[in-house]
Amino acid sequence: MDNTDMKQIQWFPGHMAKTRRLIAANLKLVDAVAEIVDARAPLSSRNPEMDSLTRGKPRLVILNKCDLADEKATQSWINYFKNNGAEAVAVDCKSGKGLKNILPAVKNKVLAELMAKREKNGMTGAAVRLMVVGIPNVGKSTVINRLSGAKHAKAEDRPGVTRTKQWVKLDKSTELLDMPGVLWPKFEDQEVAIRLAFTGAISDDILDIETLAAKLLYFLAQGYPDSLRERYKVEPEPEMTGFELLEAVGKKRGMMISGGEINTERAAITVIDEFRSGKLGRITLEMPQKRE
Ligand code: G4P
Repeated sequence: MDNTDMKQIQWFPGHMAKTRRLIAANLKLVDAVAEIVDARAPLSSRNPEMDSLTRGKPRLVILNKCDLADEKATQSWINYFKNNGAEAVAVDCKSGKGLKNILPAVKNKVLAELMAKREKNGMTGAAVRLMVVGIPNVGKSTVINRLSGAKHAKAEDRPGVTRTKQWVKLDKSTELLDMPGVLWPKFEDQEVAIRLAFTGAISDDILDIETLAAKLLYFLAQGYPDSLRERYKVEPEPEMTGFELLEAVGKKRGMMISGGEINTERAAITVIDEFRSGKLGRITLEMPQKRE
């Protein structure tokens, strides 16, 4: 992929350093860490330092937005995380599917040893404390709000906005620590940035919208050709470029500008919007084996 036309994405080392210190300082207050990722791109939507930042703490990976992800791929990702030492559950905050599995997974699996120890020592009343982390837009606030049944202040993860950590009491035996901070993913890897631009996690102006949509269409033609057939009645031929696919979509949708030219900008906006809202079907942008 030629990425020479990509704009430099901002990385905020100062904020990252602050977040790193904040996590390190608060780890001793919690029993486990719940890391929320986007099920459509479970590795790209992680902060690459999370493993080392939370070293030693039992961990649960929450694959959120699984309503938008390929079900089979989500299962492969759950297995991937399990094989790599973390429990994992799939969640869909739109319908609430999977939410009820989070706390049992924490108590019965992630913290099974601790819970057994507490039981033995007659400390079953002690609360379980869970730190919740995630890069912006994975749905951290939504998950916390749905678990607590209340609307909490939206985490301000924008650089320059200071927000203190927040404890959220779920019930007598569970407390969440909603960690603020700029936990950006690994932006040096441009494939990662492109996946996050597809999902809308980062601003899509890293690339012009037509290039972004062309890249997405090319990916879909390879991995999910039926999504193009069903939604746009476009038959992806093997030799077609992303831009040709974009033109085909614009043509099928009758998006023309005067002079018979195809309005590829409008087509691009449509494709990106429809992908993000799930209208192209359930799609996962990366598979475990390709990145292991
Ligand atoms: P953050 O705290 O991690 O930054 O994310 P936040 O909860 O604000 O969620 C980001 C967007 O993702 C929101 O949409 C939210 O509704 C959506 N979202 C969260 N969980 C799920 C899920 O499981 N499935 C789907 N399909 N979407 C989810 P938004 O467009 O920013 O706002 P709105 O549409 O809710 O108004």
